Amino acid sequence: MPDTAELEARLAALQAEVGPLATLGEKDLEAAEVRLLGRKQGALTEILKQLPGLPPEGKRAIGAEANRVKQALEAAVAARREALVAEARAAEARAQDRTMPGRDRWTGAVHPTTAVMEEIVGIFNGLGFARATGPEVETEWFNFRALNFPADHPAMDMHDTLYLDLPERRRGDDRRANRSSGVGDHERRGVPDRRVRPEGRYLMRTHTSPVQVRVLLHNPPPVRVVIPGWVYRKDTFDASHAPVFAQIEGLAVDEGISFVDLKATLAHFARAFFGSKTAVRFRPSFFPFTEPSAEMDVSCGVCGGSGCPACKGSGWMEILGAGMVHPHVLANCGVDPERYTGFAFGMGPQRIAMNRHGIHDIRLFYEGDMRFLGQFAGGVTP
Ligand code: PHE
Repeated sequence: MPDTAELEARLAALQAEVGPLATLGEKDLEAAEVRLLGRKQGALTEILKQLPGLPPEGKRAIGAEANRVKQALEAAVAARREALVAEARAAEARAQDRTMPGRDRWTGAVHPTTAVMEEIVGIFNGLGFARATGPEVETEWFNFRALNFPADHPAMDMHDTLYLDLPERRRGDDRRANRSSGVGDHERRGVPDRRVRPEGRYLMRTHTSPVQVRVLLHNPPPVRVVIPGWVYRKDTFDASHAPVFAQIEGLAVDEGISFVDLKATLAHFARAFFGSKTAVRFRPSFFPFTEPSAEMDVSCGVCGGSGCPACKGSGWMEILGAGMVHPHVLANCGVDPERYTGFAFGMGPQRIAMNRHGIHDIRLFYEGDMRFLGQFAGGVTP
């Protein structure tokens, strides 16, 4: 015989479950509904199954109470279900709210150094100069000696050049290197055999000029190349110096090339890059690998030549070094200096970019600060 008091206690426990239903998520709510109100084995059904065995008085009391608890549970489940549907709808509406302000979409952009380098290379491509590149790890032979630096040149000093802590390149190493660098072509053309000379210490190239040598060793004239790249010097990192900086080198070697070709080519470049009204001037200079050598100035793009802080009042900005390729360099590369002449030039695209944009600190190019870089990104795409 069922116990009326026990059934009353079970009903009270079920009544206590009404409140917490209002906090359940969809899955928990479904499980609770089955557990409490399930037709076959729900807690309430189990209680109702006992009713027939109760005395008439208990039957009435428990029956009425069970009904009340059942309605309370059903109402709570229904209310919670409705609330969950409303919440889901609201979330969806929020996700689709077309009155919300749009989020900026960020796109990648070309770094100002790269942009200026590509622009410069493009101008020379238009003049028939092909792009060439070379390794950043070089040997003393390519970086200095083949370029006619005397053995005691101060640039070779440990203070300026970063030497690598590797064994020197020896004769046997040269043989292997020669096979891959196409030097064999020149041996066939009666070029001095570089294998009998050790290449010296390994170093980080201090300029892009060793690529002149590599190009001439690989390719018989006529040669016209433009060489963008990164170079290394043991400089302190300050507003105007960086230990790693960009250079663009140029080289033209053919029969009958003269200083007139050098001037015309570089003047054309200056006007293409800085604007058609740009004036250029050449000043005598010195490099071991060019003779004669010159530096080229362009009229200041900021003041047009009248003098301003950007050009330190002079009206001119120095942008490159250049000259006629030294006959020793041609000979070192297996090119007959009696037959061929050439010109070469080298410039620092970061300094050119600084002049163009009025940037006063080269370190900005290295810091990755979005406030700086964003100004060259051409705005944000909506
Ligand atoms: N290599 C020289 C430098 O780094 C620049 C240069 C290149 C000068 C070619 C003349 C010819 O300063």
